Amino acid sequence: MNLTDKVIAIIGGAAGIGAATAELCAQRGARVIIADLDETVGAKTAAAINAPFFRLDVTSEPDVKRVFAAIDAQFGKLDVLIPTAGVLLGPYLELEDFTVEMFRKNYEINVVGSFLCAKYAVPLMKKTGAGVIIYVSSAAAGGVSSSYAYGSSKGGVLSLGNTSAGKLAKFNIRVNTLIPGNIATNMKLSVIEQEAKDKGLNFADLTRESKLGEPAGMAKVLAWLASEDADYVRGHITTR
Ligand SMILES: NC(=O)c1ccc[n+]([C@@H]2O[C@H](COP(=O)([O-])OP(=O)(O)OC[C@H]3O[C@@H](n4cnc5c(N)ncnc54)[C@H](O)[C@@H]3O)[C@@H](O)[C@H]2O)c1
Repeated sequence: MNLTDKVIAIIGGAAGIGAATAELCAQRGARVIIADLDETVGAKTAAAINAPFFRLDVTSEPDVKRVFAAIDAQFGKLDVLIPTAGVLLGPYLELEDFTVEMFRKNYEINVVGSFLCAKYAVPLMKKTGAGVIIYVSSAAAGGVSSSYAYGSSKGGVLSLGNTSAGKLAKFNIRVNTLIPGNIATNMKLSVIEQEAKDKGLNFADLTRESKLGEPAGMAKVLAWLASEDADYVRGHITTR
């Protein structure tokens, strides 16, 4: 899989799946850009692969607009957008204990954030007449989630991806949505920690039983989807 000279923006690329993807894409010759809310970790991750880092909050339209304008100024094009930024709020909360603020915040980051990144990435892709967007949903969208807000927001991301795949095809923008299973990242491990605490179980045992996949495994799928080897792939794909 060859990504030589592809300009790839990984939003939420400071840690976890996004960071592993940034590393692999850079190894395969891509010019990677990392943007994330976490400036400390993000700058470190980006420095390790010699990539530029931008601090942004995906829920802030001015932030997102500024970052894509900077990408345009620095690179003059954008081949691939991978918006992986996401949070899982309210694991194991009963429905009636969810505050509307928490529910909305989860949607703002996961759904509105993915939309905003695409909104400002698509004009750059139209300029060159081609592009690839890979949204990141979750197996949680299918109904098995620890959180009402997270599971349903990931349904929104999946639907945003499917809708965009059809509507953006006429601009030669290929859209796919990744549906990962359980992957060993801060997000997943903090949910397991919460479950261990709630149920009085051992964190290490629960982690082992969860048979988590590695972020590097997701990176292989995302980098492949970004490459021209996946030229004929449309819609969404499910992984372990
Ligand atoms: N880990 C899993 O088991 C799993 C499974 C399915 C889907 N996913 C999805 O994969 C994606 C990556 O998650 P991960 O598991 O690597 O988690 P992670 O917590 O390691 O990474 C998420 C990244 O998003 C960033 N982020 C959070 N809020 C942000 C905001 N408002 N603006 C900008 N950046 C922000 C964080 O700083 C972090 O770097 C998420 O969309 C998640 O929902 C994860």
